Amino acid sequence: MAQSPADRDVDGGHEAILRTSLPLPLFSRGKVRDTYHLGDDLLMVATDRISAYDVVMPTAIPRKGAALTRLARYWFDATGRLVPNHLLSHLDLNAHADLLAALPDLPRRAMVVRRAERIDVECVVRGYLAGSGWAEYRARGTLAEEPLPAGLPESAQLPHPVFTPAIKNDDGHDENISRARLSEVVGARATELERLSLALYSFAAEVARARGVIIADTKFEFGLIDGRLTLIDEALTPDSSRFWPAATYRPGGPQPSLDKQPVRDYLAASGWDKRPPGPPLPRPVVADTTRRYLEAVRLLTGQDLDEGSRARTGTDTMDEGRETT
Ligand SMILES: Nc1ncnc2c1ncn2[C@@H]1O[C@H](COP(=O)(O)OP(=O)(O)O)[C@@H](O)[C@H]1O
Ligand SMILES: [Mg+2]
Repeated sequence: MAQSPADRDVDGGHEAILRTSLPLPLFSRGKVRDTYHLGDDLLMVATDRISAYDVVMPTAIPRKGAALTRLARYWFDATGRLVPNHLLSHLDLNAHADLLAALPDLPRRAMVVRRAERIDVECVVRGYLAGSGWAEYRARGTLAEEPLPAGLPESAQLPHPVFTPAIKNDDGHDENISRARLSEVVGARATELERLSLALYSFAAEVARARGVIIADTKFEFGLIDGRLTLIDEALTPDSSRFWPAATYRPGGPQPSLDKQPVRDYLAASGWDKRPPGPPLPRPVVADTTRRYLEAVRLLTGQDLDEGSRARTGTDTMDEGRETT
């Protein structure tokens, strides 16, 4: 049975949220995150919205927002020494009782970040051949317009990770571009974007691999804060990455993944034409999707979503006391 289209729905005691309305000036409502101005900074709130083929579905996925926020924080924390990021520590919730009243699980969903001048490029890194990377390779033998060895099967590991940038397009599909085109768009910063993206991917891929997860590919966004290239948005979550359980990895076809795959599979079978609005999602599809996001958190952070928050009950800061550099 489909979930109600109401803004809020309760599933297993967890309220799924499609849309927030906090008493703060709205900065943007993206496909997944509602972002508010908080003085000079931003409060990014992950809802439980899910998008497929760039269309936001009418059904929310319980726990998804909290899972995304947990993973993004985890990775910002782990990679802060490698690349500066936008996550700020310490939002004093005592000073924001009105926000907590409006959204009691705000601490699980929200990140306070520094506002950046966004660079409108998706910095994609691929370690394996999947999705549009596989499509390009199959058609032309190249990846981001550069040749690869012949004869690689679908989902093959690449000889080395490859940076395959795309132009970020808020109103439609992102457009893959070559590194040469990237230089035309962002000038001398192109080299630095590539270097930072590859460094982040290599670090995270190694950490994840030790925990039984293959990061097949992932997307980063960067912006300028005080003139310095800074990692922004979310990073290394199931929404921005393809996570494959290493245990079932077998090149030569598509892999099961720890993300919205149940939703994509359902939509493909439903005959939906990929034009908005999307259809309501059946409960089993929703439950299976929640399970995959929770599994991604458990495998990558070594903690259940609930375990982590229980351990932190009583904290009065948004960042649960973590420092980010
Ligand atoms: N530090 C930041 N400063 C300014 N904009 C940011 C920052 N971090 C993320 N963003 C932007 O905020 C939005 C986050 O919402 P999201 O739901 O991810 O949007 P989208 O539909 O573009 O994926 C994105 O447009 C992202 O580029
Ligand atoms: Mg996004």
